[in-house]
Amino acid sequence: MISFDKDKMIFHLKSNNTSYILGFLKEKFLVHLYWGKKLEFNDLDYDMFLDVMKYRRNMCASDYKDIALSRDCLPMEYSTFGNTDQRTPAFHATYKNGSFITELEYDSHVIYNGKKGINGLPATYVENEDEAQSLELTLKDNLTGVKIVLIYTVYDELDAITRSVKIINNSKDDVRLDSVLSAVVDFKESQYDYIHLPGAWARERHPERVPVMTGKQMVDSARGNSSAQHNPFFALVEKNTDENSGNAYGFNLVYSGNFTAGVEVDPYNTCRAFLGINPFGFEWILKSGDEFASPEAVLVYSDKGLGGMSRVYHKLYRTRLCRGKFRDKERYVLINNWEATYFNFDEEKILNIARKASQVGVELLVLDDGWFGKRNSDNCSLGDWYVNKEKLPGGLTQLASKVNELGMKFGLWFEPEMVSPDSDCYRAHPDWCIHSEGRTRSEGRNQLVLDLSRQDVCDYIYNCLYENLSTVNIEYVKWDYNRTMSNIGSALLPAERQGEFFHRYILGLYSILEKLTKAFPDVLFESCSSGGARFDPGMLFYMPQTWTSDDTDALERVYIQYGTSMCYPYSAMGAHVSIVPNHQVGRTTPVQTRGYTAMVGQFGYELDLNKLTDAEIDVVKEQIKTYKKYGEVFHKGELYRLVTPDNNYFCSNEFVSEDRNTIIVSNFVLRAVPNSPVYYLKLKGLESDGVYMDEKTGKSYRGEILMSSGIPYQLSADYDTKIIVFKKQ
Ligand code: GLA
Repeated sequence: MISFDKDKMIFHLKSNNTSYILGFLKEKFLVHLYWGKKLEFNDLDYDMFLDVMKYRRNMCASDYKDIALSRDCLPMEYSTFGNTDQRTPAFHATYKNGSFITELEYDSHVIYNGKKGINGLPATYVENEDEAQSLELTLKDNLTGVKIVLIYTVYDELDAITRSVKIINNSKDDVRLDSVLSAVVDFKESQYDYIHLPGAWARERHPERVPVMTGKQMVDSARGNSSAQHNPFFALVEKNTDENSGNAYGFNLVYSGNFTAGVEVDPYNTCRAFLGINPFGFEWILKSGDEFASPEAVLVYSDKGLGGMSRVYHKLYRTRLCRGKFRDKERYVLINNWEATYFNFDEEKILNIARKASQVGVELLVLDDGWFGKRNSDNCSLGDWYVNKEKLPGGLTQLASKVNELGMKFGLWFEPEMVSPDSDCYRAHPDWCIHSEGRTRSEGRNQLVLDLSRQDVCDYIYNCLYENLSTVNIEYVKWDYNRTMSNIGSALLPAERQGEFFHRYILGLYSILEKLTKAFPDVLFESCSSGGARFDPGMLFYMPQTWTSDDTDALERVYIQYGTSMCYPYSAMGAHVSIVPNHQVGRTTPVQTRGYTAMVGQFGYELDLNKLTDAEIDVVKEQIKTYKKYGEVFHKGELYRLVTPDNNYFCSNEFVSEDRNTIIVSNFVLRAVPNSPVYYLKLKGLESDGVYMDEKTGKSYRGEILMSSGIPYQLSADYDTKIIVFKKQ
C-alpha cells in the first residue's frame, strides 16, 4: 500500500511487514526518511533530519542563505552530481554546454495498483493488480528540462520493494548519461556489516561478512557479465544479526552485465548504499525526446535475520521473476554427458549413457558441448551450429528420436554468444566479434565474444537456435557463456557511442532471449556461464534455472549452494551427481552424499551410470524416487539454514513445505571428529502445538519440543549426509 501526505509531501510505502518512507524536505529536496519494520502511523516528520544540521560542521556549501542546510548531510533519495551532496551520486550526466550539474525538483507523481514492466529489461512482475502498488515519482531539472522518474513497487505479501529509474530527455539537446544507478539508500547510521558473495570459477558465491568502514566499500563487475568474481547482491546487517534474528537489508540488481554494488560511509557515520549499472565503462547519449531505463533493484528488509531476508527473495524470484510453463512445474531429472565424455563421444556412446539412465528413472538426456561443426576440443567451431556428422552421422534428429524411444526427452548445449576464430562463422564475418580496430583480439578458451550490440548478430544467433529447435525435438537448452569480455569495441557503433557497448550488449542478449523463450514456450532453458558466472536475477527472468557451478564435488557444493541461497531459491540451482574422484578437486564422497547434496536443487546426473556398481545403481534409483517425492519441498518450501557451513564441522538445512505439513532436515558432515559432541538442531517454522512424526522411526514430537529443545545430532563419518523427514499429524 502506498499513501501520500499532501501537506508534508511524504510517501509511505507499506508491505505486510515493512515501511519505506520518502518525502520532500522544504518542498524541495527528496529525502529518504525511513526503511525498516512497518510503521503504523504516518506521523514521521522532517524535524529530526533538520536538527542534524545543528551538530555538523563541515566545509560543505549550504543550499539556503539563512540556514545551514546542505544536502551533503541529508539522507537523499536519489542524489545527483554537481550540487551540495558530494557523496557517490545516483545520477551523473553531462549537458551540451559541458555542465554536469543536475538539480531535481518535484514535478508530478502517480500511484497505481500493480506493476509495469521495464522496456527491454527483465523485472519482477505481478499476476494480479492487487498484489502490489507502484509509485512513479517524476523529478525535473528546470534548467535543462530533463526528467527523472523514480519507479517504486511495494509487494504486500512478498514484503519486497523494487526500484528502477527512467530518464526522459525533454531538453532540446542530446544529454550524455555518465551514471544512472537504480537505487541509493541513505542509512542514518553505519553500525552495519556488509555481506557480499565473492568467488571464482568453480568456487562461486562464498559469502564474506565485513564491518562497513569509513569511505567506500563495494564490489562490481566490468567483465561484461555479472561474473563469478562478484554477484550483484549485498546485504547490510546489524552486528547482532544472524540467520534467525536481527535487521537485514538486502540489495539485488536484476541485471546480467556490469554492475556496482556498495556502501559509502561519511565522517558522520551515515551510510549510503548504492546499486546499479557500473558507471565505469558506461556512457549513453540520450537524444532529445528519448528515454533511458535502468535495471531494477530489489530491496528486501527483514527483522528475521538473513534467513528471513533470503526467504523473501526466494519466494519473490520463484513466483514473480521466473516465468513460463516451467516456473511452477517440477523439472526433469536429467543426465548430462559432459563429465562422462567431454568432447570424445559418438552416437553409440551417448545412447549407451541414455539407456542406462532411462532404466533408473532419468527423464532427460542433455548432449553437451562438442556436437557441432568439427568440434573435438575447445579450439574451434563456436558459431557453426550445425551437426558434426562424423560423431553423429544420423544427425540430431536421429539421436533425439532414439533418445525419445527410450522414453526420455532430449536436450542440447549451445554457447550462442561466442565464436571460434576457427569457424565458418568467423571466416565469413570477422567483424562480428567484440573488437577494436588495430587492437589484439584476446582469446579466452580459444574463443571471441560476438557483438550483441549489433542487430544482425542477434538475428544470426536467433536464427541458428530457431533452426535447431524447430527441426529437432529439443525439449531443453543449456545456454552457456564461457569467457568474459575484453578489448571492447563494436564495428558498428560510432566513436561517441562506444561507451554504450556493454549495456547495448545486454539489451541485445535480453532481446534474443525474450524472442526465443516466447517462440519455444515448451522448451526448458537453463542458463550457464562456466558454471555460475552469470547467476543473477536477470537471467532467471528468461530461464528458470542456472547451472550453479562447474564444481560438482559434494563438499564444495555445500558452500556454493549456501552462498547462492542468500538470495536465490534452490529451485533455480542446477545441481548434479558426478563421478568420483571428483574431476575438479579429486575428492571422493559417497554417491548417497552427492545425491542428497544435489537433490535440493534442480537434480541431475553428470556421469556414465554404466560405471557405477550395482549397489550404487540401487542408491541412484532410490535417490530419484526420493527426489520425485520431496523435490517440491526443497524447491517451493521455506528454507531455514539451521547451521551454516562456515562452522566447518557440519551444515544443516531445514525445508518447510508450502502447506507446512512436510519438514525435511538435511545434514551434511563437513569434517568428522571422533566421539563428537552432540549438537541440538532447533527446528524453525513449525506450529508449536502441532505434532510431527519422524517418517523413518515413526516417533512423534510436539512442534514446540522440536523448536526449543531440538533434535540431537552427532557427527558421523566425513561427508555423511542424511535427511530426516517429519510429517505433520
Ligand atoms: C562450461 C560449462 C560446462 C560445460 C562446458 C562445455 O564450462 O559450465 O558445464 O558445458 O562449458 O564446454
